[in-house]
Amino acid sequence: MSKSLWGGRFEKSTDEMINEFQASINFDKRMYREDIEGSTAHAKMLAKCGIISPDDSKKIVEGLNKILQKIEAGDFEFKVELEDIHMNIEKALTDDTGDAGRRLHTARSRNDQVALDTHLYVRRQVKEIQKLIIEFQQTLINAAKKHSGIIFPGYTHLQRAQPVYFSHHLLAYFSMLQRDFERFSGVYKRADIMPLGAGALAGSTFPIDKNFVAEELNFSEIYSNSMDAVSDRDYILEFLSAASILMVHLSRFSEEIILWCSREFSFVELDDAHCTGSSMMPQKKNPDVPELVRGKTGRVFGHLLAMLTTVKALPLAYNKDLQEDKEGLFDTIDTIKFSLAVFSQIVAGMKINAENMRRAVEEDFSNATDVAEYLVKKGIPFRDAHAITGKLVHYGIEHKKYLTDLTLDEYKEFSPAFDEDIISVLKPESVVKNRNMNVEAAIIKATEKIKTNSETL
Ligand code: ARG
Repeated sequence: MSKSLWGGRFEKSTDEMINEFQASINFDKRMYREDIEGSTAHAKMLAKCGIISPDDSKKIVEGLNKILQKIEAGDFEFKVELEDIHMNIEKALTDDTGDAGRRLHTARSRNDQVALDTHLYVRRQVKEIQKLIIEFQQTLINAAKKHSGIIFPGYTHLQRAQPVYFSHHLLAYFSMLQRDFERFSGVYKRADIMPLGAGALAGSTFPIDKNFVAEELNFSEIYSNSMDAVSDRDYILEFLSAASILMVHLSRFSEEIILWCSREFSFVELDDAHCTGSSMMPQKKNPDVPELVRGKTGRVFGHLLAMLTTVKALPLAYNKDLQEDKEGLFDTIDTIKFSLAVFSQIVAGMKINAENMRRAVEEDFSNATDVAEYLVKKGIPFRDAHAITGKLVHYGIEHKKYLTDLTLDEYKEFSPAFDEDIISVLKPESVVKNRNMNVEAAIIKATEKIKTNSETL
């Protein structure tokens, strides 16, 4: 019968199954570093404010350091009966340092302690995720450079719409990732608020110094309301929202890559090292990675919805429900980090079939808008130009000819405004060039953005 650290008012020890149900050590142990950092700052503050002796504080800090080394070396035994990371570490510290360790929890509750750990953890993870976003953005820039000049059918409604540079299409994802980066900077800002000192909910009777702890741990702000400090999970909701939107972007890109490497499109081929085969069909080369990223999007959305539901209508301040904030958060972190890393590889290794892309542009009517705009430049109102061009397209379909196959005489039958220069307007190169799609300038701008992003890390 092991007595808990809080066991004073109890006559019985916790039922084994109940304890297993309510323990969080199996997942919150990954916050060991943050818990030790937080406790170290707390112990220093207690001594600085004369709440514990400098000697005790020193023993605590040294003891925590030893525990950190033990955990990193894999020599630390996490115990379910000690519930969570906070009590596992506190118990080990007390076993080692005696009364000094027993003084660490002065002026603190696990409620503000867990909030502190999670803030520190999210802050650290956001930076790592932002680094991966930058790496992916760099991959997109490299690909845009490598494939510069390649013309590709842009789609609306998944119908060929207007030709674009393939690099222009790739750089659309750069812009999405840039917003993701900025969203995560917002998440960082909201995680960068220090909750310690809130106690269980109502602060502390001790003369604590929150500023000192905030400075030790490099926090920009301190919670102004102790009840908010222990029950705020907005930064987790924001993290999960930012992660969900990031996954929306990756899933859209996934879907496109999956389509592009189908035989029907044949626009790209993924590296052999990035695909798998079929156990039955010998010819198969499957785009598993983008499929999985597309699939994992669902589970990240699920974590967001689960967390929204957990905090919905939750009364102030701490409730054990809030322990449910961690598994979804951790799984989301793992999922988006892994997805970003593999996606970057996929895009870097992707081979482009420029000929098929070009054929898709030429063997179609995606230059029709250019014919209409040509007529407008000759003085015809756009609506009429649209109608004339529509008839030309209809004629082309009937006679199995594309707009580039028609003769000037055929053009003139639809409008006397057509001249010889119509032929050059129709070429894919002209179509793209005339649209001011300056990929080179976009690449320079994107490169600057990456530099600015890196400077914020
Ligand atoms: N493991 C708990 C959690 O993750 C720590 C806080 C426990 N607080 C309490 N009053 N039981 O939320």
